[in-house]
Amino acid sequence: MKVQTLLLWILGFCLVPRSNGSVSIGMTALGVTSAALYAGFDKLRCSFYECCSPNSKWVKPNITALNLALDAHLYGQHLVRDVVSRALKGHLIHDDPSKALVMSFHGWTGGGKNYVARFIADSIYKLGQRSQYMHLFVSTIHFPHEQLADIYKLHLQDWIRSNVSKCERSLFIFDEIDKMPLGMIDGIKPFIDYHESIDGVDFRKSIFIFLSNTGGPEITRSMLEMWRMGKKREEITLADMEQLIQLGAFNEKGGLHNSALIQHSLVDHYVPFLPLERKHVEFCIRDEIRRRGYAENKDFVKKVADEMTYFPPENKLFSTTGCKRVAQKVAYLLASETYDTLFD
Ligand SMILES: *[C@@H]1O[C@H](CO)[C@@H](O)[C@H](O)[C@H]1NC(C)=O
Ligand SMILES: *[C@@H]1O[C@H](CO)[C@@H](O)[C@H](O)[C@H]1NC(C)=O
Repeated sequence: MKVQTLLLWILGFCLVPRSNGSVSIGMTALGVTSAALYAGFDKLRCSFYECCSPNSKWVKPNITALNLALDAHLYGQHLVRDVVSRALKGHLIHDDPSKALVMSFHGWTGGGKNYVARFIADSIYKLGQRSQYMHLFVSTIHFPHEQLADIYKLHLQDWIRSNVSKCERSLFIFDEIDKMPLGMIDGIKPFIDYHESIDGVDFRKSIFIFLSNTGGPEITRSMLEMWRMGKKREEITLADMEQLIQLGAFNEKGGLHNSALIQHSLVDHYVPFLPLERKHVEFCIRDEIRRRGYAENKDFVKKVADEMTYFPPENKLFSTTGCKRVAQKVAYLLASETYDTLFD
């Protein structure tokens, strides 16, 4: 409505012939109206297309939604839920955080690192993982060649700079950061440091998440030790895992190794993902069956869980692949006719 009125205004000024005097008034009005017109268009565009303005419906962090998602779909990771939820809340409620939020997820494969990263995107953007403000980099896909590290670094800096200038609340996820060419990660240091702005762009509202399997074996070893001492999984605290961080277990080889990020303590939170036990895998299997629209079936869940491998050999405490490949296993077994009858 408003936009149409403005258009008429402009047309009026352009089409109606005038004497010399009123031309300049016409031009001024034209400038003013086109600015207003642009603002009007922008607002209109934002109601249909994703945009990042502070009051738009597209970028609206919701910690309650994140907590609900973590409670419903993340199994066996009480430490993760605590740290991630609190860290995000702390960062998101501030209009003026002191630096970008940096979290580093560590642990055995299939423990839910990618899952949690996705939940975070879902809780910040209306479009979730499809948001243009979420950026996923997978080292083996985006940065495969060690010798191109310098070029990758420049590209990455460019991407981060231009993306954050489009939206301050940008989310960058780096998967397989342990496979990133050495030294490359230092390229992003300026963006996550305590700078108010760099060339007029403020990076402090952005969020960086690093995913890697480093530290997985150490986490598992220390869990086995605690298990032998009779400590329950749920009793493991972040302090128990802190020691591993201090020992540098999470920084050994690969992307973060010897990086300036570590040396300058720019990683805010190291988040340990514990190896999953059989009961957690069974939860994942149930989820997957439900997701495919089938009713739950105990025998089938057991069948799928039996197909997975567990370690260490003497007590088979942990799943080798966690909840990874559960979807494929379920699909595969559902497809074999033997189980058709189970769901009739
Ligand atoms: C946040 O998410 C919860 C759960 O999905 C929902 O009930 C609530 O309305 C949301 N809050 C806002 C402000 O959108
Ligand atoms: C933003 O980052 C993506 C990578 O996710 C990159 O492909 C794109 O070119 C960047 N956008 C801009 C405007 O630089």
